[in-house]
Amino acid sequence: MTQTLTLRRPDDWHLHLRDGAVLRAVLPETARDFGRAIIMPNLVPPVVTAAAAAAYRDRILAALPEGADFAPLMTLYLTEQTDAADIVAAHAAGLVTAVKLYPAGATTNSASGVRDMDKVQGVFEAMAEAGVPLCVHGEVTDPDIDIFDREAVFIDRVLDPIRRRTPGLRVIMEHITTADACGYVRAGGPDLGATITTHHLMINRNHILVGGIKPHFYCLPVAKRESHRAALVEIATSGFERVFLGTDSAPHTRATKESACGCAGVFSAPVTMACLAQVFEDAGALDRLEGFASLNGPAFYRLPPNEATITLTKGAPVAFPAEIESADGPIVVFDPGTPVLWRIERV
Ligand code: DOR
Ligand code: ZN
Repeated sequence: MTQTLTLRRPDDWHLHLRDGAVLRAVLPETARDFGRAIIMPNLVPPVVTAAAAAAYRDRILAALPEGADFAPLMTLYLTEQTDAADIVAAHAAGLVTAVKLYPAGATTNSASGVRDMDKVQGVFEAMAEAGVPLCVHGEVTDPDIDIFDREAVFIDRVLDPIRRRTPGLRVIMEHITTADACGYVRAGGPDLGATITTHHLMINRNHILVGGIKPHFYCLPVAKRESHRAALVEIATSGFERVFLGTDSAPHTRATKESACGCAGVFSAPVTMACLAQVFEDAGALDRLEGFASLNGPAFYRLPPNEATITLTKGAPVAFPAEIESADGPIVVFDPGTPVLWRIERV
């Protein structure tokens, strides 16, 4: 008997769409399965003004396939020059859903990010007052801190102090990768949420490094040891309501990944929902997938869940496309390396 699973249409609370040829290639992959996505602003140059966010949203809408049912939720890239009044006005107008904090130098196109958190404290206070959510890339950039420790150190040295001095600031810890982050979000109150990627639920650091270096598993924050992956699966599948899906699907062309200095990012949009069904089934928690992928995110962002549904069916192992084409070159699709028996029924 075929096993099927029907869920409310999911949303992706952390997505990179890029621009131009790559945007046109990757957008249909997300728009097919997801109702909405929080769109990352780390373009070159970054999306720092409401006008730039509006123009980017228009380019995304123009690139949508005919008949697509998808809404991009825009973010602004926080810099030390950001004007708090601009953020509050853009949020009140419905143009911007959240603000993104990149510590300067933490990841792809983060050079314009924040070096000194004191310089943006006034912005945090205005955001807390106006209820604008802050999406946080939670890694310190101090060269003395081991890359595998950067998330845990960020929580202690940066995130916790910001939250203590800014009551009411609504924070999303993005793409959490450690048991430390799971513990911190659990202990937080209603103003603290976290997203988890598909790939961090499926791979640990051995996948990147054992038996030859695997650039397509390299992303930031880098995957940690197995005990951390297990903690992520535990919290994602536990029914805990303040964690939700943010794929961090981050396309880079094959050539820029397979390089002596390869880009960070895993492109998982085409296969995410099938992979997640496998993760949740393996954890004995298929009934909790809808909460993680379709309900908890809207609840945190104070938006209604999607009305439409998707249906997944279980059968023989699925052969996913190895890559998708773009005019800039092929983009390799995430392959967890273990069988995935679920697929989305396409109507
Ligand atoms: O792996 C990543 N890729 N992590 C990030 O934080 C940025 C992203 C990208 O833009 O490629
Ligand atoms: Zn990202």
